[in-house]
Amino acid sequence: MCGIIGVTGVDDALPVLLEGLGRLEYRGYDSAGVALVTNTGLWRARAAEGTHSVRDLLVGGGDPPPLASIGIGHTRWATHGQPDTGNAHPHFDCTGRLALVHNGIIENHAELARDLVRGGHVLTSKTDSEVLSHLIETEMVRGTSLAEGLRRALRHVRGSFAVAAVHAEEPDLIVAARRISPLIVGVEGGTSFLASDIPALLGATRRLFALEDDQLAELRPGTMRVTDLYGAHARPAALTIDWDAAAAGQDGYDDFMTKEIHEQPKAVAATLRGRRAPDGTLVLDESAGLSHDDLRSIERVCIVACGSSYHAGLVAKYAIEQWAGLPTDVDIASEFRYRNPILNERTLTIGVSQSGETVDTLQGLRAARERGGKVLVVSNVVDSSMAREADGVLYTRAGPEVGVAATKTHLTQIVALELLALVLAQARGTRAAGEIASLMDQLLALPDTLEAVLERTKDVAEVAQELTDARDFFYLGRHVGHPVALEGALKAKEISYVRAEGYAAGELKHGPIALIEPGTVVVGVATRNCLWEKMCSNIEEVRSRGATIVLVGNDGDERTADLADHMLWVPAVDPMLAPVVDALPLQFLAYWLAQARGHDVDRPRNLAKTVTVE
Ligand code: G6P
Repeated sequence: MCGIIGVTGVDDALPVLLEGLGRLEYRGYDSAGVALVTNTGLWRARAAEGTHSVRDLLVGGGDPPPLASIGIGHTRWATHGQPDTGNAHPHFDCTGRLALVHNGIIENHAELARDLVRGGHVLTSKTDSEVLSHLIETEMVRGTSLAEGLRRALRHVRGSFAVAAVHAEEPDLIVAARRISPLIVGVEGGTSFLASDIPALLGATRRLFALEDDQLAELRPGTMRVTDLYGAHARPAALTIDWDAAAAGQDGYDDFMTKEIHEQPKAVAATLRGRRAPDGTLVLDESAGLSHDDLRSIERVCIVACGSSYHAGLVAKYAIEQWAGLPTDVDIASEFRYRNPILNERTLTIGVSQSGETVDTLQGLRAARERGGKVLVVSNVVDSSMAREADGVLYTRAGPEVGVAATKTHLTQIVALELLALVLAQARGTRAAGEIASLMDQLLALPDTLEAVLERTKDVAEVAQELTDARDFFYLGRHVGHPVALEGALKAKEISYVRAEGYAAGELKHGPIALIEPGTVVVGVATRNCLWEKMCSNIEEVRSRGATIVLVGNDGDERTADLADHMLWVPAVDPMLAPVVDALPLQFLAYWLAQARGHDVDRPRNLAKTVTVE
């Protein structure tokens, strides 16, 4: 994880770096730091915790920071070494004339460090990243330029990196390179920029390019030169930017999570817009790269994802199997790539990733491509690494999501995947046209339903208030309610820091029910589906053992309410579409539990939004 940024050719680099780092904090906020190149050498400020701590340091510190036209910055999600100031980036070399920031993991750092120390270098941090500064230093002692020094240093490295470095001897230059970890560069007038991701540079420039693996950029004020690691000219990929700076702001809400929860109706509507042709048939964007013949020839679907995206994939399994009659597997990406998935040219592999950068999913999709068959990505970020590498992309159109806990991107993933399931059913003739049209109508009506549920946030807050002291939660569901329960539990863990287990309700009796005792909270997804009666029996089983019962149920369903201590009401929709609606009160529940416990919902501890390490 971690986020990096750099700018050269501005009047005052520091505010640009701090602003960009603030926008990159979703990638980690264990520590932050900046380095500027000044007339007298390098200047550096680093602090544990996020960008705000660097700002505090600058305000509270003695001398004012120097004015500089060039600098680099970093916000950290700790992998190697504690999240303290000493391990914060930028890292210097022994001379203090070179500074470097890094996102990724240098897997052979231990052996590189051993050789460097034998060669007389003094490493001051516990990070894997610092070896890079010293490796470049070693090359530069031999008289090479900063760019050539980085090229040569990177040839020794195994692992992943997005890296940027400055040197006092080349005071207007930033060199940057990537392998696996994302890195974008841009030029606007007399200024050049780099960052881990687009939101950091929104407002600064819309002319952005993504470096490919093993490309290196030399950024000088207003110019950019890109080569491979051996110095041959290379071409980065131009990016399409369809977000504006305002969309990435907080827009008057108390926090990003609230803003993004409230944007869900709009996001779902945007994701479905234009998917119905004038003749009534459903269509995917051309970018999905799936012809009618492709859709008909698929024999199996394999979904690969992590976190909330994985839960969206689990919902899609039910829809694709039921509507399109295709066997569908859903895999956790970090497991998928290390087993031996059996795929062939008639398998459609779908990567689900809001960021399009999660390294486990990215590598999983690469493994799938090697084995044959089409690879489709469902992503929220245009031109993300996955989007560029896949055969096709189905975009969710949720706009930038900043809160670490996925909300609007999760709902739009479900909707996009259900749309795909209907398109598959249409192409394969597994459902009648009338049924497909009716389901599409109901999908299109979801934004209004979500608006109605948004009005009920205060009701959920009251329930959360009652549960403030509870520590043990089980989230239960059956059928499509199961992934909803998993996602509800994940939200509770992520931001409320309660022990929350998501379980298939029918599986509880095979062990976990031993943990139910008075005081345990059971949150059940009990909206009406084909297994509702069985779900009620499972709730009875935990109720009789003293659990406090909170149920998501359909408006006016008194039989469900009879089982509950607290109800979270939602309107009834088609059972297959219910995960979109039922997820919302569980987002609110996690939110209000976190509020009651005084947690920062946008910056949950130990987490980062985009996970670019294995
Ligand atoms: C992190 C985030 C989750 C997200 C997961 C997958 O763990 O905290 O919210 O679901 O990564 O991210 P992706 O960008 O691939 O959907």
